[in-house]
Amino acid sequence: MLRDGAAISLWQNAIEPFQPKYKTLPTQQFDVIIAGAGVTGISTALQLQKAGKKCLVVEAHTLCFGTTGGTTAHLNTFLDTSYKQIKKDFGEDGIHLVASATQKALDLYKHNIETYNIDCGYEQKDGYLYAIEDDQVKELDEIFLASKEAGVDVAYTDRIPIPISFQKAIIYREQAQVHPTKYVYALAKAFEEAGGVILENCSVQEVVEDEGRVVVATTLGGVQASYLVYATHIPPGINLLHFTNAPYRSYAIAVTCKENAYTEGLCYDMYDPYHYYRSQEIDGKNYLIIGGEDHKTAHEKNTDACLNKLEAHARAHFPVEQVLFRWSSQYFEPADGLAQIGLLPGSKGNILVATGYGGNGMTYSHISALLLTDLVMKKENAYAALFSPGRIKPMAGFTNFIKENADVVAQFISKRISAEKIKELAELAPGEAKLVKYEGEKLAIYKSEEGKVHALNPVCTHAKCVVGWNSAEKSWDCPCHGARYSVDGKVLTGPASKDLQAVQLIDLILK
Ligand code: FES
Repeated sequence: MLRDGAAISLWQNAIEPFQPKYKTLPTQQFDVIIAGAGVTGISTALQLQKAGKKCLVVEAHTLCFGTTGGTTAHLNTFLDTSYKQIKKDFGEDGIHLVASATQKALDLYKHNIETYNIDCGYEQKDGYLYAIEDDQVKELDEIFLASKEAGVDVAYTDRIPIPISFQKAIIYREQAQVHPTKYVYALAKAFEEAGGVILENCSVQEVVEDEGRVVVATTLGGVQASYLVYATHIPPGINLLHFTNAPYRSYAIAVTCKENAYTEGLCYDMYDPYHYYRSQEIDGKNYLIIGGEDHKTAHEKNTDACLNKLEAHARAHFPVEQVLFRWSSQYFEPADGLAQIGLLPGSKGNILVATGYGGNGMTYSHISALLLTDLVMKKENAYAALFSPGRIKPMAGFTNFIKENADVVAQFISKRISAEKIKELAELAPGEAKLVKYEGEKLAIYKSEEGKVHALNPVCTHAKCVVGWNSAEKSWDCPCHGARYSVDGKVLTGPASKDLQAVQLIDLILK
């Protein structure tokens, strides 16, 4: 299966790509169109289809192409934003609601797996949060108290299931883990069997919301429905959400260990960014999965170095035998610590969105599946207000800001440039990329392993920020709202919907 990066994740390995039943748009009526076929899109579509709605899932690439194919798939009743912080910002009601919403999400995983008899390496495991440094101990105590108050099953423990020294630790009971792509593929099959339609390689081009309907132009034709759900991490266009969510990258490796040193739990330290650990058995083989080294998208010059650091960390603490997979993925950090699930700000009532998951995408995906289904079915939902995207109010001048950005069309130097004039071309090694200056303008150039040079206008087609090179995934990433492009400028992930402009190099002689 394919993913939005050059590195191969553990979940892509040895899995046959899902083959949707439809290749073209069938001539039937739909109630809901869901854009995005990751864990959020597919689990929401299945819930809605089961509730009696006719659903169409459109995916710009292929199933699990985005973060679902690059997650480390921890399912938790606690979030990256601690209960201590949630209590401070959202009060006692907030912590109780988050505790019960996350529990319901985990229950839905279990229910789906039992209902559809899904073989996806699902296991319930305990989660361990531990303090190593002195200043982390007080923080841990406060998190413990707030978690307890929230109603989560948590206790102190004097052991953690990984060989790392710590001062104090707490244990969250009955967390879970899953093989994410196997799980989503099985849900997709169940969705199609229930009458749902999935179209891959079909992207949303234009949306008009009018008189209680959405009219959606896609690359495979036009379609109408009562609702459109953006399950694309961040929606396209320019919206309040692009200013209340920041794109981040996280790194993961999957290794085999000597001495059977695979952890039986889900473990988290308290550094910022934190490390996270778990094991997964796939086809009889054990893997230890370690994640961390998070940073804001396009804010690290050398992303390969992040993977190297993670690998060094793994080797320092575990008897690593072989590093088999190294990859990274993207998530969106919400401004106030909680996800934004519900009506898209500015929508007339027919466009829904789920974003701002932080590092808890797998858990939030199922909170979204339940909440979005209730919103479409016009049923009360206890979590609607807490997660409403409308809870964050635009700052003064915001409307003008959007207008200005939306109106600006990127201007760029001539589309044909003499390669000889760009002296940095000669300095590029195969597989390397660089932003270079050409007559006062920037140019993004990449030399393939075969020596082919791709030159692009590095101005992001979303709102004009300049992209940066991601060496670990061989992509051009935008630091502003997380759009990502392949080496030849094709959109890998939104919010951009247009490719980077290609620049033709003439007189190009490669050595
Ligand atoms: Fe918004 Fe690039 S993603 S400017």
